[in-house]
Amino acid sequence: MQQSTYDTLHAAIIMDGNGRWATARGLPRIAGHRAGSEALRRTVESAPNLGIRSLTVYAFSSDNWRRPRTEVSALMRLFHTYLRRERDKCVENGVRISVIGRRDRLPLMVLPEIEAAEKATIRGDKLHLRLAVDYSSRDAILDAAKRLKGKGTREAFSEALGAGDVDLVIRTGGEKRLSDFLLWECAYAELIFTPVMWPDFNESDLASAVAEFHSRERRFGAVPKAALA
Ligand code: FPP
Repeated sequence: MQQSTYDTLHAAIIMDGNGRWATARGLPRIAGHRAGSEALRRTVESAPNLGIRSLTVYAFSSDNWRRPRTEVSALMRLFHTYLRRERDKCVENGVRISVIGRRDRLPLMVLPEIEAAEKATIRGDKLHLRLAVDYSSRDAILDAAKRLKGKGTREAFSEALGAGDVDLVIRTGGEKRLSDFLLWECAYAELIFTPVMWPDFNESDLASAVAEFHSRERRFGAVPKAALA
């Protein structure tokens, strides 16, 4: 099992609450997603200072196709704009961008932006930003099982899924569930649920979550350290 040190934290965020944030202000839901995109930009800037080396964010689940067509199109446009606008800054700041999830259902205009961002940032070594788009953890697990043809070890499975274990999951927006996100990778993750709506999430919220993570004793099924003394 991969265990992280302070400097190699793998965090994951379920960015929830955009719609409610907008509705509470009398704005259309897409205004919440736009503000959410800004919150993501700020989070990517502050994550490396908090020891986070890998950050996977849930931008669009495979179940999100069920949303109204106008909201889906607006989210895809935001995703496109984010990749185009943030690419150069990510190169400058050593942020590597990868996109996980299915690509065959994404609008064609998004594909070149994904490829360009992944290619331009491939050498980034300060933070690996993984954007989960048209992502379903159950589907990712099924795909890995098919590729490994039943011969997989735990390590081979983790590798086939593309990243190591997640240490810390943060879900904003007050709900307390994983919603088909990184189910294998989160086997021993610490879960932090906050009522803060994603567009309001800031560096101090991220720092608090990381501090709470460090205050917890991770036992991985063993007994507490104190019991061995
Ligand atoms: C969940 O909030 C959020 C999403 C389904 C989309 C997340 C998208 C962003 C943060 C926008 C930018 C992302 C990128 C990669 C540019 P919700 O809409 O379900 O909120 P609600 O529960 O309040 O309705």
